[in-house]
Amino acid sequence: MRIDIISVAPDLLESPFNHSIIKRAKNKGLAEIIIHDLREYGLGNYKQIDDTQFGGGAGMVMMIEPIANCIKKLQVERSYDEIIYMTPDAKTLNQSTANTLSLKENILILTGHYKGIDQRVRDKYITKEISIGDYVLTGGELAAAVLVDAVVRLIPGVIGDEQSALTDSFQDNLLSPPVYTRPAEFEGMKVPEILLSGNFPKIDDWRSEKAFERTEQIRPDLLED
Ligand code: ADE
Repeated sequence: MRIDIISVAPDLLESPFNHSIIKRAKNKGLAEIIIHDLREYGLGNYKQIDDTQFGGGAGMVMMIEPIANCIKKLQVERSYDEIIYMTPDAKTLNQSTANTLSLKENILILTGHYKGIDQRVRDKYITKEISIGDYVLTGGELAAAVLVDAVVRLIPGVIGDEQSALTDSFQDNLLSPPVYTRPAEFEGMKVPEILLSGNFPKIDDWRSEKAFERTEQIRPDLLED
């Protein structure tokens, strides 16, 4: 999968993509992540990328020309399955969206700053808008990093133990059951007996039961779907 990201703060994206699973995915050739500095497409000597809003109001708006020029240049080289805009005023990211996106070949992600982007960019170029939660970040870079992490780890071959991604929380609309490792007893706190029993069908039942209980307590809304 190839992921292109358009950003006004490319430095912010350096670190998240150079660690652990994402790094491994890149090294294995399963994911290619290319960052494009929107400033390079800015207008005039000052490389302007934003301006005051029509109709008045606080905050600068990202202009359509630099973004359109950048997107058009990238589209000459390849067509994108999705052009995604990271913004708080969109549907919230969930596991199902991450699953769907992990099957795509080429994704372009646009990250916003300031008061947002000119609506005409959204109307003309954006095929999908994603928020990572009901709060406002300084810019879309960290949101894009969250999206890329959630998607890339699902690409077949990225995680060594395939089962591990499939049994994550949310894959079946349930939170994960509790997990334990050695020692079997710590300061009087014992690991549930069943997990030491070697009876794997029973262990599966126990895990399903605990996943359901946890979901009922913490995220009952997931059970409504
Ligand atoms: N940009 C700023 N806040 C955001 C959010 N919550 N989700 C996605 N992009 C954003």
